[in-house]
Amino acid sequence: MRNLKISIKNLEKSFKEKKILKNLSLDIFESESLSIIGESGSGKSILTRCIVGLIDFEMGEIKFENSENLMKFNFSEKMKYISNFGILFQNSALLDSLTIQENLEFAKKKENYTKTLDEVGLPKNILNKFPAELSVGMQKRVGLARAIIKEPKVLILDEPTTGLDPIIARQINKLIKELVKKKKITTITVTHDMESVYEFGDYVAFLKEGKIEWYGDAKKINKSKKISLKNFINGIDEER
Ligand SMILES: Nc1ncnc2c1ncn2[C@@H]1O[C@H](COP(=O)(O)OP(=O)(O)OP(=O)(O)O)[C@@H](O)[C@H]1O
Ligand SMILES: [Mg+2]
Repeated sequence: MRNLKISIKNLEKSFKEKKILKNLSLDIFESESLSIIGESGSGKSILTRCIVGLIDFEMGEIKFENSENLMKFNFSEKMKYISNFGILFQNSALLDSLTIQENLEFAKKKENYTKTLDEVGLPKNILNKFPAELSVGMQKRVGLARAIIKEPKVLILDEPTTGLDPIIARQINKLIKELVKKKKITTITVTHDMESVYEFGDYVAFLKEGKIEWYGDAKKINKSKKISLKNFINGIDEER
């Protein structure tokens, strides 16, 4: 049986007169790995920022584990709410003037980070280094370590493989698969990398023109007859 973790109903988000999300509804289930796919600029990152409570929305509701609508939360309720999530941002977003150890302390104070580093395939001798001393792939791993260290209820990964070469991207996809399957953590991954979807997505939501245009089992995505989805998967530009 699937247990509902996050319910999103009729969500609307605009910037000035530009509507980004329009009447968007989506259910997210416990212990499942959901991939959110869609063209660049379709609002994937904005949607995840709304879900975690980092940006406000104008209409609709987001409910976490049957809580009240997130929109009604006051500041301190929202701060508590945000701590349910571990987030790997699109650019890893490590604090560049802090060492790796300090970046991890920022998420959670611990005496020993060896186990967490081990989980993301990093040696402990990187703790005293600065982010700029690490390769982009290693920075992603640190970002991932920072996201999982506080054992969040939901893991959010925004483009975990963007900007990586195909070999490193494959390693990161494999690592995420191991983590997600081992921990059985509810995971939302924003990506345009179909390899990520095939590697560790259980379900897929395809975002187009502010709505979920297709939702379904990741294994059935290639059987979908929806033209816009087919075009996206095959990298066909509809404008031309
Ligand atoms: N702070 C902002 N002010 C105004 N417009 C914004 C703001 N943030 C995002 N947008 C716009 O909202 C739209 C959706 O942005 P978003 O970053 O969610 O796209 P995305 O699907 O994540 O794209 P990508 O795949 O390139 O990361 C874009 O058109 C973007 O320009
Ligand atoms: Mg984005």
